Amino acid sequence: MATEAASVNDTRLDWICSHADSLRGELVIPGDKSVSHRAIMLGALADGISQIDGFLEGEDTRATARIFAALGVRIETPSASRRIVHGVGVDGLRAASDVLDCGNAGTGMRLLSGLLAGQAFDSVLSGDGSLHKRPMRRVIEPLTAMGARIEAEAGGLPPLRIKGGCALHGIDYALPIASAQVKSAVLLAGLYARGETIVREPHPTRDYTERMLQAFGYPIDFAPGHARLSGGHRLRACTVSVPADFSSAAFFIVAASLVPESRLLLRAVGLNPRRTGLLAALRLMGADIREHARSEQGGEPVADLEIRHAPLHGIEVPVELVPDMIDEFPILFIAAAAAKGVTTIRGAAELRVKESDRIAVMAAGLRRLGVRIEERPDGAVIEGGAMTGAEVDSATDHRCAMSFVVAGALAGAPVRIRDCANVATSFPGFDQLARSCGLRLESI
Ligand code: S3P
Repeated sequence: MATEAASVNDTRLDWICSHADSLRGELVIPGDKSVSHRAIMLGALADGISQIDGFLEGEDTRATARIFAALGVRIETPSASRRIVHGVGVDGLRAASDVLDCGNAGTGMRLLSGLLAGQAFDSVLSGDGSLHKRPMRRVIEPLTAMGARIEAEAGGLPPLRIKGGCALHGIDYALPIASAQVKSAVLLAGLYARGETIVREPHPTRDYTERMLQAFGYPIDFAPGHARLSGGHRLRACTVSVPADFSSAAFFIVAASLVPESRLLLRAVGLNPRRTGLLAALRLMGADIREHARSEQGGEPVADLEIRHAPLHGIEVPVELVPDMIDEFPILFIAAAAAKGVTTIRGAAELRVKESDRIAVMAAGLRRLGVRIEERPDGAVIEGGAMTGAEVDSATDHRCAMSFVVAGALAGAPVRIRDCANVATSFPGFDQLARSCGLRLESI
């Protein structure tokens, strides 16, 4: 099996974002990435036919769907954002004839490493240049303790070669870092393990794997910070209704807060409490964010979010909020740069091993925009002030690219953002949606 995987997104795309006057309108944000990945995975392992509504048509989640097709699962796309998954049962996956390309997706690779460790056949997981720099020892160690055999490159980096036919056994695992991906990898391996698998977290993280296993009829016991299941049960097909992704909504929440005279309404945004730390942080900074029409969608809390411009001030970000806003720091850096006074972020060293080193990338970009920022190993100290125009590098990180767009809406001169093609991994159509509410964004 060759291990060379084509990069999902080789196309070079720069954006230029210019000053915006006000942001207005009602927006529908695409489906949640974390939920979409898991819906494909559990739908594939279930007995029967599952329907996924609101599936994220992003490159990360499409890569996961392609991987399951390569593992012998029939997945239909009757219309955009809908998938029909013909489940093959927990023991029904077949060896793929080639390397499985996860693209840019850490979630895809880490969850699949657990799931594939329990199969009868060998697999190889690969990805793009960014994914090949991301640490996998954090999943290899607990999975190896369960009896899995996984080989990685030096330093525990992908590609991962996963041996089939290993007899897995359950473990009681205390996660050294708060990570929903590692927790989920261990739980998915636990489906194939003899005995009980228990995962304990230092801080509760998103519990979509647990909730969705339960929705698919798999016996699981969980509470914030803790999950327990036994191997050997089956999953029952069901319909998954994917809520709008809070992490994608975040760019518009901050943009409308910062651009004077703005008022945006974001429809039915997923508000799982393990995801919405940014709302708490922004409210501490003085943001005006109101929730309307609270309801449930697919077992998840959702609400319409109304955001009005409000002057923000710097804060010390409460360290206990960090895991609940781990994907939102790039855009929080922009909020901090535009706020009055100083914002301090600590306890966020995980940002250094995301799709890029997000502390370094955001600090470098903000410095170019004239912002005073001091980088720390686990965060930053950012002094709010006026931003100037400049060229900044997204380092091919989708969330850094979208964050710099919001900076461009505020800066005194246009901001050119390099390498924005990977925005399509999590937020296809971001640029059109941004233009539709008043952001001035040009593709180069
Ligand atoms: C995710 C978990 C988080 C998050 C990522 C999605 C998931 O990663 O940053 O975007 O779907 O489980 P970690 O588990 O590495 O914190």
